[in-house]
Amino acid sequence: MNLLLLLPEAVHQGDLILVNAYHPCHPAPRTDLVSVAGTEVLLERRAAQALDRLMAAIGGWEAIAPVSGWRSQDEQQAIWDDSLQENGPDFTRTYVARPGCSEHQTGLAIDLGLRQDHIDFIRPHFPYQGIAQDFRREMARYGFIQRYPAGKEAITGIGHEPWHFRYVGTPHAALMAERGLTLEEYISWLRSFPYGSRRLRCQDTFLSFLPAVPRAPTRAHRPNRMACALSGNNVDGFLLTEWGEGHG
Ligand code: DAL
Ligand code: ZN
Repeated sequence: MNLLLLLPEAVHQGDLILVNAYHPCHPAPRTDLVSVAGTEVLLERRAAQALDRLMAAIGGWEAIAPVSGWRSQDEQQAIWDDSLQENGPDFTRTYVARPGCSEHQTGLAIDLGLRQDHIDFIRPHFPYQGIAQDFRREMARYGFIQRYPAGKEAITGIGHEPWHFRYVGTPHAALMAERGLTLEEYISWLRSFPYGSRRLRCQDTFLSFLPAVPRAPTRAHRPNRMACALSGNNVDGFLLTEWGEGHG
């Protein structure tokens, strides 16, 4: 048996952290930000690498520009303040997350726009056809979701954003796409698979939820024959992804 020992701050780290108006971003102590497609736009390395593989598969970078990736707290504040001035409060609350509550601050979210003479920074053009739709068709295989879909505004707290994509990794992106779940809904759903009693099977992976012990390390025993990945959910626990015997 292996013993997993998870410190309280680990709840706020990992690819599945939920960041919204109710769950602010906790700045990661070690960010590993890299350039996207040679531009000044930055993403966490594993998200940037997955994005590059996806763009290579569809020939995406010729027609698609990275518009906005990682943002500091100051940058999100400046975007919020400028938008309030230029666009007013209704527009700003619909399309700009409050400073501290933007998933751009995690380095796991990116706005994409079609390359054109003028690209709108807050609402880039990324239609449901052509190369942009090719991107959407393939994105789950590379771990990306469209984070703010139409019809889910009351759940996400943000307006429909066809241009904003979030890296959550695999197999999570595919499960969310298949079931039409937002990240809010997915995090809730996985709570019904408590570690040690019930697991969600997805092909060769098993998913479960480990509640965090408040203000103390969380411990879990696990069989050492299964490879495992862990992410905090930024709310109240950890999501475990385990691969069956024989995996790598
Ligand atoms: N446009 C998204 C909601 C953000 O500002 O994070
Ligand atoms: Zn965005």
